[in-house]
Amino acid sequence: MTKVAIFASGNGSNYEKIMEHIQAGFLDHIEVTGLYTDKRSAFAIERARRFDTPVHVYELRAFDDKAAYETAILEQLKRDGVEWVILAGYMKLVGSTLLDAYEGKMINIHPSILPSFPGVNAVGQALDYGCRVSGATVHYVDSGMDTGKIIDQMSCPIYEEDTEETLQLRIQNLEYELYPRVIKKIIR
Ligand code: GAR
Repeated sequence: MTKVAIFASGNGSNYEKIMEHIQAGFLDHIEVTGLYTDKRSAFAIERARRFDTPVHVYELRAFDDKAAYETAILEQLKRDGVEWVILAGYMKLVGSTLLDAYEGKMINIHPSILPSFPGVNAVGQALDYGCRVSGATVHYVDSGMDTGKIIDQMSCPIYEEDTEETLQLRIQNLEYELYPRVIKKIIR
């Protein structure tokens, strides 16, 4: 079993889909040691309780700086023997403390065909530009904003009548398929 941690700042639906794939036996080689969140109000916490995943809340404002915040997270990751970190809607740039420990073993999912539209509101930006195609990307995490080496992508059409909500739903449905597939392939 490979021990992984999942980081989420909000809704946590990607976390839940990964857990469902573990339960279904599709991801039978990983163990999720914890759900890490930087937001006490994250709905991901409720989802984690349903799956009995230990929850670790680290809010940046409780620490002197980003390095101290990430050092506290790193200590918990090490205590749990975590080998890979899976970012699933974690909305902070990862700093050097965590990167030095996990670069090459930290992946992220993003709701666009990177390198287009990194950062926040990728779905809205694709609509604003009038794109006819969008999708989801899984990539290794480096020090940039959604700039790490791409591992895999899936695409979907954008229709004339799409709103941010309808497009987001279409992209998230791709994410629920893409992330478990990539996790199965690269985490050994
Ligand atoms: C996902 O769509 C993910 O791609 C995106 O946040 C959403 C989280 O949804 N991540 C980013 O935009 C990272 N730059 P979830 O909390 O329901 O899994």
